[in-house]
Amino acid sequence: MEKYLDMKSKINLSELQKVAGIIKNDGIVLFPTETVYGIGANGLSKKAVEKIYKAKGRSIKNPINLLVSDIKMIESVAKDITELEYKLMDVFFPGPFTIILKKKDIVPNIVTAGGDTVGVRMPSGEIALKLVQESGVPIAAPSANLSGSLSGTNLNDIIGDFENKVDCIIDGGDSKIGLESTIVKVVDGVPHILRPGAITDVQIKDVAGDVVLDYLNKNEFLPSSDMAHYNIKNRCVLVKTDKGQVDKVNAILEQYDNAAVICCNENACKYNSKVILNMGAKDNLEAVSRNIFRLLREADRSNPDVIVIEGIEEKRSRQGYYG
Ligand code: TXA
Ligand code: MG
Repeated sequence: MEKYLDMKSKINLSELQKVAGIIKNDGIVLFPTETVYGIGANGLSKKAVEKIYKAKGRSIKNPINLLVSDIKMIESVAKDITELEYKLMDVFFPGPFTIILKKKDIVPNIVTAGGDTVGVRMPSGEIALKLVQESGVPIAAPSANLSGSLSGTNLNDIIGDFENKVDCIIDGGDSKIGLESTIVKVVDGVPHILRPGAITDVQIKDVAGDVVLDYLNKNEFLPSSDMAHYNIKNRCVLVKTDKGQVDKVNAILEQYDNAAVICCNENACKYNSKVILNMGAKDNLEAVSRNIFRLLREADRSNPDVIVIEGIEEKRSRQGYYG
């Protein structure tokens, strides 16, 4: 079979079954999910999961989540699931939501970095979900980027880093959401958000009545909280949405000959800079989230003296648009 499979406009089920064969044989695959691209392997095979760590250059202290296709598969890898955990899964699965549960012995220690919990996510992206279904095993799948780098939301941005390290590549076009899943761990009956993502704290509070935003502090439950993430080569400045945002951006731009700006559609004409990258309309949070990682990579590739980014109003972004 071809190593590169184009499923941008249509899923090819018989090809996907062959990819599932690769997963079952301890191979490693680059594929799209609705959040970001993943690099996946049989989550029940130590040998297969080792390949993911190697390909990403990931620390073995950083556990990997499992993509699952149904509740039965979740119950095969996790135990002592509480009523609230079932409720959260019922509301947010399939979708951009990961929940940390107590692990069963069947999950190899390499997946959980030796810990007694395992993160599970049921993706809504059709290619990812079907791939898990056809494989019949949970797929261990971190984001498909070199460790420490930005998540990949289209194949073009990541293929160079992985094409010689994986057995198969599925192109599903641009990621629909473009941000990672929200990671939640229920502690003493209250959901703690370990990593913010496409499902917001407001949405989780609506379901659970309470929520703790652990990601605002050093996060004892997230093993990767003291590791570097989202690194780019060039300096980056975020200008908040307070009054005078455009003037502030312009004041920074005046100091540099070679700056890149990432801004909303409404303001794109207000800046004088060689590289102006448009996130989408200010009110279109779907577009902003879908575009941001791609634009950061694009800005970084232009090797500017500084990348200036217009912030988005936090209050609005926390209401959520997905789920
Ligand atoms: O949207 C997503 O979640 C994407 C797509 C590909 O599914 N995946 C993703 O995986 O973002 P990754 O590995 O890049 O980020 C997962 C995070 C890591 O920070 C890891 O430390 C944390 O989940 N994690 C994994 N297992 C955990 C566990 N048992 N307890 C706490 N945190 C865990
Ligand atoms: Mg990641």
